[in-house]
Amino acid sequence: MTTTLVTGANKGLGLETARRLVAAGHTVYLGSRDPERGRRAAALIGARPVLLDVTDDASVTAAARTVAAEGGLDVLVNNAGVEGRGEGNRVIGPAEVTAAMMRELFETNVFGVVRVLHAFLPLLRRSASPVVVNVSSGLASLAGLTDPSVPAHGYPGVAYPASKTAVNTITVQYAKAFPDLRVNAVEPGFTATDLNGNTGTQTVEEGAEIIVRMARIGRDGPTGGFFDAAGPVPW
Ligand SMILES: NC(=O)c1ccc[n+]([C@@H]2O[C@H](COP(=O)([O-])OP(=O)(O)OC[C@H]3O[C@@H](n4cnc5c(N)ncnc54)[C@H](OP(=O)(O)O)[C@@H]3O)[C@@H](O)[C@H]2O)c1
Repeated sequence: MTTTLVTGANKGLGLETARRLVAAGHTVYLGSRDPERGRRAAALIGARPVLLDVTDDASVTAAARTVAAEGGLDVLVNNAGVEGRGEGNRVIGPAEVTAAMMRELFETNVFGVVRVLHAFLPLLRRSASPVVVNVSSGLASLAGLTDPSVPAHGYPGVAYPASKTAVNTITVQYAKAFPDLRVNAVEPGFTATDLNGNTGTQTVEEGAEIIVRMARIGRDGPTGGFFDAAGPVPW
């Protein structure tokens, strides 16, 4: 039996990932920072709700204690994330971004990932087949951001791509430090969710595809990589 935690799973890609992993036979903890939204979403798909705000040490520690007491963890999907758009769904570019805006976004997208990894690592290291999936973005790719022929090149924001590049760095460093774990970053693709005011061109079913696939790789899968549905993505 595989036990999986998906953070930020009360809606969007996280909810679809949780739904598919329940269908694949995993026992899924559906992380949500809001108890009511979490309970409702978990009931909908047959998951276990767990209160988890990735920006809050006490919340993450309490969630890890609950999961440990109920038997441990095999798969962690670090999915919770924010894009930090401004008024009217506007992406905030270099002319306007401030250190405070960036710090707030990094608190969720970067420090949140480290906070959750730190709390759940002892549980994962006790698993026979531990897997971590960090939900990154195509915008993390410096190769993409610097190549005018790639759509990511035209994205004007600063904080969000920088946060996901940091997630990729974290992925590589954890993968090297813990060779018994499979630790990978994934790019779901531009998906219609609340994150982007539902302007994405893919459905959540399409977007969750690579997240689910990498959550199910098991002991013999790759580690330290960055993948989308079509295969490896350039760093
Ligand atoms: N959509 C895309 O095109 C796209 C592309 C590439 C990567 N991604 C990544 O995919 C992941 C999921 O995004 P999405 O598109 O599904 O967006 P979404 O529908 O807005 O979902 C984001 C989820 O993260 C949760 N969250 C935000 N801050 C949190 C916190 N402090 N603690 C716990 N949960 C928190 C949200 O909870 P609340 O409901 O409480 O706000 C929500 O459940 C993100 O990491 C995002 O960067 C998305």
